[in-house]
Amino acid sequence: MTRLVTHDLAVRPTRNERAAQDFTSSLRGHVLNTMASSMKSRWESRIAPALETPAEDGLAVHKALRDDLYFRFYSSLRMGAQEMVWSSVSDAVTRDAGRLREISDRLPACGGSLTLDPSLPIPASVSDIDVHLMPGSYTSETGDGDLAAGAVYENGLSVFSFGLMGKNLDDIGESSAFWLRHAHPDFKPTAILDLGCSVGHQTLPWARAYPDARVTGVDVSAPCLRYADGRARSQGVAAHFVQANATALPFPDASFDLVYSSMFLHELPVKDIEAVFAEARRLLRPGGLMLHYELPPNSQLSAYDGFYLDWDCWYNAEPYYKAFRDQEPAALCAGAGFPAEGYVQTVVPSLSWYGEAAVAEAIAGPARLGGNTGRLADGVQWFVFGNWA
Ligand SMILES: C[S@@+](CC[C@H](N)C(=O)[O-])C[C@H]1O[C@@H](n2cnc3c(N)ncnc32)[C@H](O)[C@@H]1O
Repeated sequence: MTRLVTHDLAVRPTRNERAAQDFTSSLRGHVLNTMASSMKSRWESRIAPALETPAEDGLAVHKALRDDLYFRFYSSLRMGAQEMVWSSVSDAVTRDAGRLREISDRLPACGGSLTLDPSLPIPASVSDIDVHLMPGSYTSETGDGDLAAGAVYENGLSVFSFGLMGKNLDDIGESSAFWLRHAHPDFKPTAILDLGCSVGHQTLPWARAYPDARVTGVDVSAPCLRYADGRARSQGVAAHFVQANATALPFPDASFDLVYSSMFLHELPVKDIEAVFAEARRLLRPGGLMLHYELPPNSQLSAYDGFYLDWDCWYNAEPYYKAFRDQEPAALCAGAGFPAEGYVQTVVPSLSWYGEAAVAEAIAGPARLGGNTGRLADGVQWFVFGNWA
């Protein structure tokens, strides 16, 4: 279902394409809910008890499961569904790319901006990999003004997330901003930066949550940023999009109150994550906050749940996933010079799944990592960590 892309840059799939998209979303829902539960039960009831030595970590669980027929069936269906996510949207985007560009060019300005840097080197971690099996990754372009990669990403995400990212595919940003406003009502950022913003899904919620703030999104991908700019204007939200590498940003010291990212760090080599955190530290004003939505670390999950989340590293062209998840988030923050007493970590229930009242109640209580923390499955909860400067 590209059905969740409802703004002016929506593509026009044929009936067959729409059917393929709906089928793919349903298949993913089945694999990630029903089959994932069955696989875990099978692990707990049959495979783990038969091991001579208990599996101590995710690698040991993977080794024990690799030849299991159910795991292989699960993995092949999930990989097939992932390829179908992109193939089910790419023809419609190819047909419509010129039209989307014309629409974007005509959408009125609303206080935001787009700044591209054609000389920016694209990191190999983006250009050399079809990240999560997305053909051409985020940065392939056919010429000036091309925004097709952004359209593929957004429509693909709509199919991929089978409704779990909210009606506007921005549930992570909405939930994160809701948490920050309720957990820290006195914090009033006036300059907010979203790193690896892609098409701006999680950037715009910050502009809505803090209407007096100047909100900037950075990404290395020009086609994603062109699309992000059109998408923001279509939704009447002022946001500034800048093409830059988050490891070396073109902003002065102490120029932001909040440096945020969502689903970004696990796509970077560890040395780049360290550079990103050092940049965040440099850019934050005193009293500012660095905040990331990410997958929870292996150290805070059971061996099985750690293995389950690292599946993408082995089967979904996400080679940096496990190395990131093997890090200690607090140590990464401390390594960049953040004060240990300013470390924060919490679990934010999905706003669109649970509703505002339930999320506000959860915010008031202790944060607990459950089986669905960071897992795209029904009842998803988002793992958020960061550090006050
Ligand atoms: C999974 S997407 C994140 C999307 C978005 N933050 C969200 O949550 O909807 C990762 C994004 O990071 C960008 N990216 C990867 N490496 C980068 C870097 N070193 N600097 C800036 N952006 C980068 C990619 O181009 C891609 O758009």
